[in-house]
Amino acid sequence: MRVLLTGGAGYIGAHTAVELLEQGHEVVLADNYVNSSPKVVDRIEAITGHRVRAYRADVSDRAAMEALFTEQEIDAAIHFAGLKAVGESVAKPLAYYRNNLDSTLTLLEAMERHGVGRLIFSSSATVYGTPERLPLTEEQGTGVCTNPYGWTKVMIEQILRDYTAAHPEFSAVLLRYFNPVGAHRSGLIGEAPNGVPNNLMPYITQTALGKRDHLSIFGNDYDTPDGTGVRDYIHVVDLARGHAAALGYCAEHCGVEVFNLGTGRGYSVLEMAETFARVNGVAVPYVFAPRRPGDVAACYADASKARRILGWEAVLTLEDMCRDSWNWQRQNPDGYEGA
Ligand code: NAD
Ligand code: WQD
Repeated sequence: MRVLLTGGAGYIGAHTAVELLEQGHEVVLADNYVNSSPKVVDRIEAITGHRVRAYRADVSDRAAMEALFTEQEIDAAIHFAGLKAVGESVAKPLAYYRNNLDSTLTLLEAMERHGVGRLIFSSSATVYGTPERLPLTEEQGTGVCTNPYGWTKVMIEQILRDYTAAHPEFSAVLLRYFNPVGAHRSGLIGEAPNGVPNNLMPYITQTALGKRDHLSIFGNDYDTPDGTGVRDYIHVVDLARGHAAALGYCAEHCGVEVFNLGTGRGYSVLEMAETFARVNGVAVPYVFAPRRPGDVAACYADASKARRILGWEAVLTLEDMCRDSWNWQRQNPDGYEGA
């Protein structure tokens, strides 16, 4: 298939591009590089030996999308493009609603004009809000979210349900990612946050590198085995394989389907820091700090639906995640900046 990856130069998009190219698909990428670098395209091509057709374009730009869909015969789209920083979304809600909703609407309109009927959307476990029961199954209710970023995901899921109800031949797959970490084993692509990282794994890798003095562990008094927060970390390469499986599914089914993409296993912040230090033979100094507002004690997936229906499951271990994150960070201490 020829697959459009909006936000395809981003962390998850780039890994998915590699996976799809290796499986024999063609990749068309559209990114405005607001949170990524055009250098990613060269890296994807270096890893796979295949060409990527890259468009520097804002997905909210109707004319740019019209040109892309006219030039390329797209079979399916994977919509990664979006702003994703939770804290920033609280400070700049309009920017988040504008970018994330507008890009989705503009993409859907272009797809409709050009008769493209398959879409995979990057949703998030954040749509579950505070978990009622663990593990989280897809049936559990969504909302109430604690930040505008999360609400954009809930709203876009609803838009896709409404659109599919009106167009029963349309196929939409909503993938709710848990906590993606790790990097391609080549070390050529990985997560490159701007400024001080918000997420745990890049904070750990930058601490190991000496760029950050120490890791602050947000809360050690949660109702969890060691008191620190528990999350379902998933290797980004497993996540990328999940997209390939979803692509096969949406080629053969109509309607909306939701899948959790996680491992089904939770690890605590302490386990993460200690496993990272052990596997890589590096020091990760940490201090305990107050809880971070908005954090839940524990969050992990029931990943059985994806296994049952997509035939997909995560296979890479926590050790793989720690080793590959460090391999990427060591080779690229300044992300794509110094490349
Ligand atoms: P990322 O920021 O690395 O990638 C997003 C990409 O979209 C970037 O390359 C950015 O430049 C691009 N982009 C943003 N707005 C755009 C627009 N209007 N037009 C064109 N390009 C645009 O983020 P990621 O971690 O790869 O996440 C991909 C998707 O998965 C996002 O939608 C994110 O919300 C979602 N998600 C991420 C996580 C996570 O922890 N990384 C978890 C759950 C869901
Ligand atoms: C993980 C754990 C922190 C940093 C976020 C979004 C979510 C999704 C994934 C997009 C928590 C602790 C972290 C640090 C720490 N993104 N921590 N010190 O909050 O589970 O999920 O990213 O959809 O929507 O909310 O991930 O990596 O920020 O935190 O102790 O410096 O690490 O408290 O327990 P989170 P995270």
